[in-house]
Amino acid sequence: MKKNLDVCLTPALFHLYDPAGSIVVVIDVLRATSSICVAFQHGVKSIVPVSTLEESLAYREKGFLAGAERKGEMVEGFDLGNSPFSYMEPKVRDRNIALTTTNGTRAIQVAKPADQIVIGSFLNLEALCQWLPTQNKNVILLCSGWKNAFNLEDTLLAGAITEQLMDQYQFTDHRDSALAAAHLYQLAKDDLYGFLEKSSHRKRLERLQIDDDIVYCLTPNQTDVIPVMVGDTIYNLNVLQSM
Ligand code: MLT
Repeated sequence: MKKNLDVCLTPALFHLYDPAGSIVVVIDVLRATSSICVAFQHGVKSIVPVSTLEESLAYREKGFLAGAERKGEMVEGFDLGNSPFSYMEPKVRDRNIALTTTNGTRAIQVAKPADQIVIGSFLNLEALCQWLPTQNKNVILLCSGWKNAFNLEDTLLAGAITEQLMDQYQFTDHRDSALAAAHLYQLAKDDLYGFLEKSSHRKRLERLQIDDDIVYCLTPNQTDVIPVMVGDTIYNLNVLQSM
């Protein structure tokens, strides 16, 4: 039987969806879910997404690295911020990390009623699109947006996933959000960076001069890592399966 594929454009709309029995793919292209994928690609053991700076620091007492982003910047006194490049450093290998970001880690919390939560980015697009159909479950693509509002970059990734799953596999979409996301992706796919030129988060990040981060986060298929939530913690699915 065909499975449903839904796109939820912001966490504020998530109450309209039925996450029980579904896999929720949490998307925060710039940059939380991209950085989480990079972290596991570079040997991070686990990531606990938390809501507050205090919670992240409390985990440091237990030997974790503490990560925190606010207003796009690493918060002073923390070990890590939200740049994908900081999660490529040798210091993250084999470490447990507690991470709080403005939207991405919040969306992960919102998705908790789901049967399963996985982390999506352009970096692991192909891996996700291969894995999701093998699970035989409904799929909800949850865009983190910005403070509960719609954003373009997360919607574009939702569109890219929708396009692949609808084309190649037994999925069906019931909502216009999936159609809209797929149409937007069609418009943008030849130049994602250019398409986002006027987007709010690109402007927000511009003042920080982290164009390299943006370009990297928009580069498809850099890793086959699929981060998956088990309880309150995110692990690398490939590592879990090899244990
Ligand atoms: C977030 O979680 O809001 C973002 O990842 C912010 C950022 O770009 O650092």
